[in-house]
Amino acid sequence: MTAINPSILSADFANLAAELGRIPSSDAVHVDVMDNHFVPNLTMGLPVVKAIREATSLPLDIHLMIDEADTWAPGYAELGAESVTFHVEASQRPRQLIRDLKSHGAKAAMAIKPKTALEPHLDLLSELDMLLVMTVEPGFGGQAFMDEMLPKITAARRAVDDLGGEVAVQVDGGINRETILRAAEAGADTFVAGSAVFGAEDPDAAIEGLRQLLA
Ligand code: DX5
Ligand code: ZN
Repeated sequence: MTAINPSILSADFANLAAELGRIPSSDAVHVDVMDNHFVPNLTMGLPVVKAIREATSLPLDIHLMIDEADTWAPGYAELGAESVTFHVEASQRPRQLIRDLKSHGAKAAMAIKPKTALEPHLDLLSELDMLLVMTVEPGFGGQAFMDEMLPKITAARRAVDDLGGEVAVQVDGGINRETILRAAEAGADTFVAGSAVFGAEDPDAAIEGLRQLLA
């Protein structure tokens, strides 16, 4: 099963409800939460994500690029997100955090930045619902896909398959019509796309176009 999750980071923040209405065929809406500490950019926090939750019936895929994930991440699960992704670099107790997220009814996901090695964190894989391999340095939309992350995607896929294939492998950053197949062939199954969707004249057609490339 593959999924296309548009990132609203590239949407019009002054018209979020209308923007959500332009992507009805999304598998989930990817929401980038940034705190200006973990990454050099600031987007939104719980109140705005809660408003997004109320404005759409689409599942929310929350990507937290924030420090002190152990403290803040469970709140996003509590408000009804489908999945909550924390960065392993920002968690002191990732195993406990995964359990906390699940106990609030969300799928638990962990992200790793491009310079973070996967192997030291593989012991957490069996507890996760999704692993996010970042394919750009987190912080901004519209950056170029890092081809040097392809081996990490493949390593993630192998580790997931060894466990029985239940964990989704997500990629985020620079996914577009040029790059999505490379990421898929390397082993990704869940694709975040910001500028490739919201930069298009018809965002929903762009989602469908990406999906067709994977078919
Ligand atoms: C970047 C964010 C991404 C971003 C992707 O830190 O995590 O979700 O919106 O944007 P594109 O698809 O334009 O690279
Ligand atoms: Zn993201």
